[in-house]
Amino acid sequence: MSADTPLPLLGGLSAADFLGQYWQRKPLLIRGAFPDIESPLSPDELAGLACEDRIEARLVEEHGRDAKGNPQPWQVSHGPFDEATFARLPERDWSLLVQAVDHYVPEVAELLETFSFLPRWRLDDIMISYAPPGGSVGPHVDQYDVFLLQTGGQRHWQLGGAVDEEAPIIEGIDLRILKHFEVTPGEDWVLEPGDMLYLPPGHAHHGVSQSEDCMTVSVGFRALSADEAVTSFADYVGETLPASRRYSDAGMTPPVDAGELNDEALERMRALILETLDDPAQLAQWFGRVMTQPKYVDQLVPQEAPTPVEALAAELEAGAHLERTLGSRFAWRALNETEATLFVDGDGLPCTPSLAQALASNAPIDAELLAHPGAAALIAGLLDRGSLSWPAGDDDDEDPS
Ligand code: SIN
Ligand code: CO
Repeated sequence: MSADTPLPLLGGLSAADFLGQYWQRKPLLIRGAFPDIESPLSPDELAGLACEDRIEARLVEEHGRDAKGNPQPWQVSHGPFDEATFARLPERDWSLLVQAVDHYVPEVAELLETFSFLPRWRLDDIMISYAPPGGSVGPHVDQYDVFLLQTGGQRHWQLGGAVDEEAPIIEGIDLRILKHFEVTPGEDWVLEPGDMLYLPPGHAHHGVSQSEDCMTVSVGFRALSADEAVTSFADYVGETLPASRRYSDAGMTPPVDAGELNDEALERMRALILETLDDPAQLAQWFGRVMTQPKYVDQLVPQEAPTPVEALAAELEAGAHLERTLGSRFAWRALNETEATLFVDGDGLPCTPSLAQALASNAPIDAELLAHPGAAALIAGLLDRGSLSWPAGDDDDEDPS
């Protein structure tokens, strides 16, 4: 598929048009983006996930009560919840939001493949919300790009234009609800199942459920802040620097004033920092690692004993296949014609470019991959670290360890 192919999911725009005109710039409403969509989960199933330990879930109640029973304009509570929580909820004006549902539900993870007109490593997660009539999280701004796909019921969306980070928010609650929200004329829509709204970062929005069965799937993207990037890259580079690399001022001119921090000194320090950091090879290694860091570090379960490589290869030759573990992140970068780095879950592993490309795609992980030199050992290592898994429901005897 070329970048100029019209995509129904983008309302007939091509990836090139969407990226050139809308991505990170302005909202786009796409009616019938997923014409046959059905909610991948029922409200009860979503509530079930919200009751599980380690699954990030929030309940947002408008006109709720705090733990002491005092009425609050907005009340946020964090999971895990229990049946009693859901039993006490009123018939309207609340929302349940569950984060990273793609890590737990394969049908939800599959949705991500439709967004492959964007780099996969930009994806953060899929959040799913359920709300009875009146339920919302209030008018707010997110710092990331998001596609809001209506999979059940109706939600009334209103947009309020670009808002800067300093915009006043309602104080005293664990939610960043805007104090002032003015609807941009014409940016006011009711989304039906299959409709999707793309929002760039920093764009005020407010979505209120209009039905008993309102389910919204948020496909969110991540971008490091300069703050995170500088700190993290400096740490990464710092680990490999010899102690002898230091500020140096050989040949300096005699200081006019011994107490002054003069321009020459400042320039030497600036040069040391910029030259140390300006290393494209290190940058690529760090970037791949940081963008494949799993959302939840404890989610990957390493194998207790190393997988025997020969036995694994034999299993694959016999027709078995492996799967990328839900929530695992893969990316790759060629170093030259014969060498590449496969980035997996925050690490970088050397391999050939074609193997790295195949593993970081959605291609099946089966015997065909064994044609690549070093594939069996690499795949066994990925299985050991928990980034690959045997398909759920397979017999234990398929696992050769
Ligand atoms: C929701 O699903 O209720 C809110 C999603 C969002 O505004 O980001
Ligand atoms: Co939002």
